[in-house]
Amino acid sequence: MSATELDSALSQAAHYLQAAQRVCVLTGAGVSAESGVPTFRASDGLWEGHRIDDVASPEGWYRNPALVWQFYNARRANVAQVKPNPGHYALAEMERRWGQNFTLVTQNVDGLHLAAGNRNVLEIHGSLRQTRCLSCAAVDDRGLKPLGDAPRCPRCQGRLRPHIVWFGEALDDAIWWAALEAASACDVLLVVGTSAVVYPAASLIPVAKRRRPTPAQVIEVNLTTTDASDWADVGLYGPSGIILPQLVQRLEYSGALS
Ligand code: OAD
Repeated sequence: MSATELDSALSQAAHYLQAAQRVCVLTGAGVSAESGVPTFRASDGLWEGHRIDDVASPEGWYRNPALVWQFYNARRANVAQVKPNPGHYALAEMERRWGQNFTLVTQNVDGLHLAAGNRNVLEIHGSLRQTRCLSCAAVDDRGLKPLGDAPRCPRCQGRLRPHIVWFGEALDDAIWWAALEAASACDVLLVVGTSAVVYPAASLIPVAKRRRPTPAQVIEVNLTTTDASDWADVGLYGPSGIILPQLVQRLEYSGALS
């Protein structure tokens, strides 16, 4: 995308946002890439050296829970060292403008949106910080310290698993319904740093686009075009850590963020 094309796309995106009463954002791994968190589909089906099926599926867990915990402890340790980037902070700035009418739906489990200051966040794929007990079902925030490869529930001594949605598992009903509600009620859906190939998360895009009587405007922010691009009214192609602050700057300039 040339500088002129980007400039005109930014104006168009700012124009949609200025008119929006309700804004919903869908983020994926790309928004955290500039913080140093690896994305998922960058290399050949391996995820930090592991087959995805071995570390992110119920079958992998039953085969080798210790390996799964080693993998998640490594991801927790990585995330403990990283910080939100200017893209995350720009989204927090936007939430300050729209307040309760701004919902951020994220597929990321790294907690960086919350760290940047967003509050109305739906972590539809769970959180690296949380564990779930396989006996009493309690969900606890355990921070990001290593938990060993066979952690036990502090209440009932049951086995703990990461509170992450793995391949083939259903999303939490209440969180997913809240995400659907936000996408179906928004005037603008901002889709940031996701390949939009994982469902049901990606279905929020057509949900917003099928809003009646007026479809939502979809703005895509990504390095490249994706499966979301055909739905997008405007595409901003470049790193989200640069593009989102530019978008916020335009909104501030127009008075929409004051
Ligand atoms: P992917 O790895 O599939 O896609 C990352 C997207 O981010 C790609 O489209 C990149 O082009 C884009 N990208 C990379 N760097 C960027 C940057 N600096 N600025 C903007 N965009 C950038 O990650 P997701 O779409 O998040 O699920 O993957 C969705 C789900 O698949 C994940 O939540 C995870 C995985 O399986 C679970 O763990 C349940």
